[in-house]
Amino acid sequence: MKQDMYPAGTNPVHSAVVKLFYSRAARHLFTNAWYSLLSNLDRGAAIRFLNYGYASPDGEQVALQAVDEPDRYAIQLYHHVVSGTAIAGKDVLEVGSGRGGGASYVARYLHPRSYTGLDICKPAIRFSKARYADQDNLAFRVGDALSLPFANDSFDVVINVESAQHYGDMGRFLDEVHRVLRPGGDFLMACFEDPSKDVFPRECLARSRLRLVKEDDITANVARALELDGARRTALAVEIVPRPLLGLSHEFAGIPGTQLHASFANGECPYYCFTCRKD
Ligand SMILES: C[S@@+](CC[C@H](N)C(=O)[O-])C[C@H]1O[C@@H](n2cnc3c(N)ncnc32)[C@H](O)[C@@H]1O
Repeated sequence: MKQDMYPAGTNPVHSAVVKLFYSRAARHLFTNAWYSLLSNLDRGAAIRFLNYGYASPDGEQVALQAVDEPDRYAIQLYHHVVSGTAIAGKDVLEVGSGRGGGASYVARYLHPRSYTGLDICKPAIRFSKARYADQDNLAFRVGDALSLPFANDSFDVVINVESAQHYGDMGRFLDEVHRVLRPGGDFLMACFEDPSKDVFPRECLARSRLRLVKEDDITANVARALELDGARRTALAVEIVPRPLLGLSHEFAGIPGTQLHASFANGECPYYCFTCRKD
């Protein structure tokens, strides 16, 4: 029971594993292993999103169908990311689409002409293809953000939600986004900044060929969402994750009481939403 002596996240083993997870050498290996494991554990297909969520400060809520209600906060992050950009009739690429919930939401509610979700995690793409097979404007494929399997000038919009923190080379990813975007196209990105994990989206964007149109600090919204969604996330983890991995999964999920949640709540780890354009 030694694990329970510590609130999740202050457990030194968890902190060491999180550090290793984001280390340059192991990042690729661990990212893939972790998301593949989650996909394989989730036999009941309960996980459709893997982001920290977004809550409006005044309690304003996005209108959702009943079927989407359990994923409200994760959906609201997607809604916030795309809210300033016209999506209807456009060709959209999402890099790091995870379990496909955000792709399905945008494709159903905002009516792009086509929406392609790409992820490096094969089980996640397998799940997405099966789960959302009935959506005509939606497709998924396996691929690497650092080498996008698309021709130049293929998309009007590229979306990236809480995925780029995993990439070994964010600059190369932004070069790829610039290459596959059509001139005048938009790049919409949600990403936290964390020097301890070597994640610096603002600096990378400033060095890229994309022009920053809008930057939005949503740290407080993300921390609030984690609080409002904490009970559901905890119950989900208990249902899916084997007990020895539970504390670690709480840390990655940002459940209140973890170091990760604290770093959003106290502003140590800022979380941004960016809108950029290819001129
Ligand atoms: C925190 S999850 C977010 C998933 C989804 N955007 C969401 O909000 O639910 C990060 C995702 O990025 C994917 N990913 C990590 N490295 C990648 C890479 N190099 N290329 C493509 N996807 C990657 C992971 O497999 C994972 O599905």
